[in-house]
Amino acid sequence: MCGIVGYIGMKEAAPVLLQGLEKLEYRGYDSAGIAVYQDDIFTIKTKGRLHDLKQKIEKMDTSIHGSVGIGHTRWATHGAPSDVNSHPHSSENGRISIVHNGIIENYMELKLFLQQEGRKFVSETDTEIVAQLFDYYYQGDLVDTMIKVIDKIRGAYALGVLCSEHPDEIVAVRKDSPLLVGIGQNENYIASDIPALLEYTRDYYLLEDNEIVLLKKDSIQLFDLNRNEIKKEIFHVTWDVSAAEKDGYDYFMMKEIMEQPEGLRKTILPRIKENEIQLDQIELTAEQVNNINRIHIVACGSAWHASIVGKYIIEKLSRIPVEVDLASEFRYRQPILQKNDLCIIVSQSGETADTLAALREAKKHGVRVLSIVNVVGSSIARESDDVIYTWAGPEIAVATTKGYSTQLSVMYLLALYFGKARKTITEQEMTDYIQKLKKVPDDVQKLLEFEDRIKVLAKQYAHSKDVFVIGRGIDYAAALEGSLKLKEISYIHSEAYAAGELKHGTISLIEYGTLVVAVATQQALFEKLISNIKEVKARGAKVVAIATEGSTSIEKVADEVFYIPKTSEMFTASATVVPMQLLSYYIAVERGCDVDKPRNLAKSVTVE
Ligand code: M6R
Repeated sequence: MCGIVGYIGMKEAAPVLLQGLEKLEYRGYDSAGIAVYQDDIFTIKTKGRLHDLKQKIEKMDTSIHGSVGIGHTRWATHGAPSDVNSHPHSSENGRISIVHNGIIENYMELKLFLQQEGRKFVSETDTEIVAQLFDYYYQGDLVDTMIKVIDKIRGAYALGVLCSEHPDEIVAVRKDSPLLVGIGQNENYIASDIPALLEYTRDYYLLEDNEIVLLKKDSIQLFDLNRNEIKKEIFHVTWDVSAAEKDGYDYFMMKEIMEQPEGLRKTILPRIKENEIQLDQIELTAEQVNNINRIHIVACGSAWHASIVGKYIIEKLSRIPVEVDLASEFRYRQPILQKNDLCIIVSQSGETADTLAALREAKKHGVRVLSIVNVVGSSIARESDDVIYTWAGPEIAVATTKGYSTQLSVMYLLALYFGKARKTITEQEMTDYIQKLKKVPDDVQKLLEFEDRIKVLAKQYAHSKDVFVIGRGIDYAAALEGSLKLKEISYIHSEAYAAGELKHGTISLIEYGTLVVAVATQQALFEKLISNIKEVKARGAKVVAIATEGSTSIEKVADEVFYIPKTSEMFTASATVVPMQLLSYYIAVERGCDVDKPRNLAKSVTVE
């Protein structure tokens, strides 16, 4: 949510900031702006996308010169997207300029205080209050001022600050919002995420909460809240720039759909050693697994959907009771957490605010936390007792695809690992599961071959008003993800239903021509699902089914069928989700939607 970039060095700052923002636009894209020091702080910002900002800059009579600056791409929280609410925000006297990601919870109270001190505000944002507060406390030293500001503000923030009296410095801090510091030669950077810096450097510091950084072109100083200078480990990015580029695809989402088999191979195969799952990275011993009383899986959005699949599989294969919670609910519902419980936190970004808060809630109760995370070194990864990384590579499209599928694959690994430790799976069953698990990436690859057929189907259904996705058991869990994909990128209303629930209300919404996607891979539930398909067909629905090879009787009731290769019923969600991802993608393209940047959304939801 919101992207921040800052540059200090020898180059012109504006192009570096704009290039960085381009790579961060997935974090928010309703307004953008930059501030560059040139004799004084010059700010230009606008409502709209980054290209609107670029056009505004091109239309200027003069060009922007200066080698220190900050930039921002916004996802609105306080105040609608507008020129005046866009970042950077300035203090009334123009001395301070600030970019901010997060929410200042006590901004009203601070605003009142500053108003009583005679300060006037122009925007509706919480960020402007921080700019004014910074100026209010400023007595000549940026780090000292930052410490005073942090003492007064409450909430989540990553802040980058320019001061006209310190044209050779940028000061920044983070709390509950990501911020990293890029290390260059005679130039340094701040950014919300790595892709913004990849072009310039691969070495960076990850700021922890309440760590302050003072950047000059040739030095980086890090401080704690007592102004003690601190030393930190330098991280090195190993993936190359092309991993964060579109590589000839029209959208990142399609590139990422296509990258799923590779991400799955990297996530699954190195963790299979002969007839065993080896999770070397985790310290959870077999004895601890045996003592687990209950598992709580906590996540948001698609990660929550992967968690629901996880519940079905872990319960089935290890007989450990599993509860799945939405992070935003878990953190406030006073969950009952006991000593031998295990909390599994699932997050692609590793920065989702509610998920991070849920992790902290679990730790507060003394519960061991194992996280499934894609972004190495992210907050969730760092704060967990154990981390299993999904090796999906950088995911840029707002709608997750490879992030979700690799999360599913870790659920499979964990279920087998737990099952083995608790002896709820026999050796023979283990051999069979492992053989099928190794095949999951190839199964997904096969489904990608349906692309052309799905393109045709997308044209046919692009103007649907409502789409329902139904399934039972694991197929229902997969339906939840398919339905979210469609609604978030195509804006078609869609709901996922446990097929047995249709008769309890939803079936009244089925009209002549309504599209129903039916997922039918669970053999014990197959006949029941066929009956549900007949029920919607009888009310005029068009049915696109996703079933397992050999289940040809479904052709008698469905209008169109996509077959997934035969596999364990535990692992079908990996394959069934693919046609739904492709259908959502092509429907969104057909409707002229911006697939990678759906309206009102942003990747990495770092606010509550
Ligand atoms: O980074 P996370 O996995 O924690 O993100 C969770 C959700 O915000 C995310 O899955 C969201 O629902 C996506 N838009 C789904 O495509």
